[in-house]
Amino acid sequence: IDPVRMLTNRSSGKQGYALAEAARDRGARVTLVSSAELPPPVAVQVVRVETAQQMLEAVQAACRDADALLMAAAVADYRVAHPATEKLKKGAAPLTLELVENPDILASVRGPFVRVGFAAETSDLLANAGAKLRAKGLDLIVANDVSARDAGFGVETNRVTLLDASGAEELPLLSKREVAERVLDRVVRLLAERRA
Ligand code: CTP
Repeated sequence: IDPVRMLTNRSSGKQGYALAEAARDRGARVTLVSSAELPPPVAVQVVRVETAQQMLEAVQAACRDADALLMAAAVADYRVAHPATEKLKKGAAPLTLELVENPDILASVRGPFVRVGFAAETSDLLANAGAKLRAKGLDLIVANDVSARDAGFGVETNRVTLLDASGAEELPLLSKREVAERVLDRVVRLLAERRA
């Protein structure tokens, strides 16, 4: 918004880091594109970004020779149209921010690699996640009810449903690392099917 204020969201980045670490431990060469304030995992190439546009460019570059793209990032859907160069001062008039839409990274980065998305929802979990699966042309979507206290933003656990064209698999409450392992099991199966 200005040099001291920003628009952001409640995502901690923990699920994305868990995916990166789990893939690394299975022997994958991992590029983690992130704006999260978490310590970088060892043996993972970390690309730090601050804006959705920067994330788009970094993801495009990382996908050039990738087998799979997993997008757990809670990308800001909007950015401020005209960020102020000096700190805004409070005044008599209400402040109105004009917001413009950011690029949809997952919808636009397409290719022969396996594409997995997350759906952060507070209602109609499966209907909304299914719509995103189809609209973004994904192989798999991880549907995440972020209104539950033990799932989603900031906490160590997650409760998700894996959704693909053939149906839904509801997983129990798991650590974010265990969720990552279940997602990667699916990715391994998808890659094997493609190579068969
Ligand atoms: N995503 C993305 N770029 C965006 C917004 C979302 O790549 N600008 C990705 C997310 O990383 C996630 C998936 O798209 O894998 C779904 O994101 P989500 O925030 O659940 O939904 P949106 O598509 O942004 O739709 P809405 O906010 O209207 O629910």
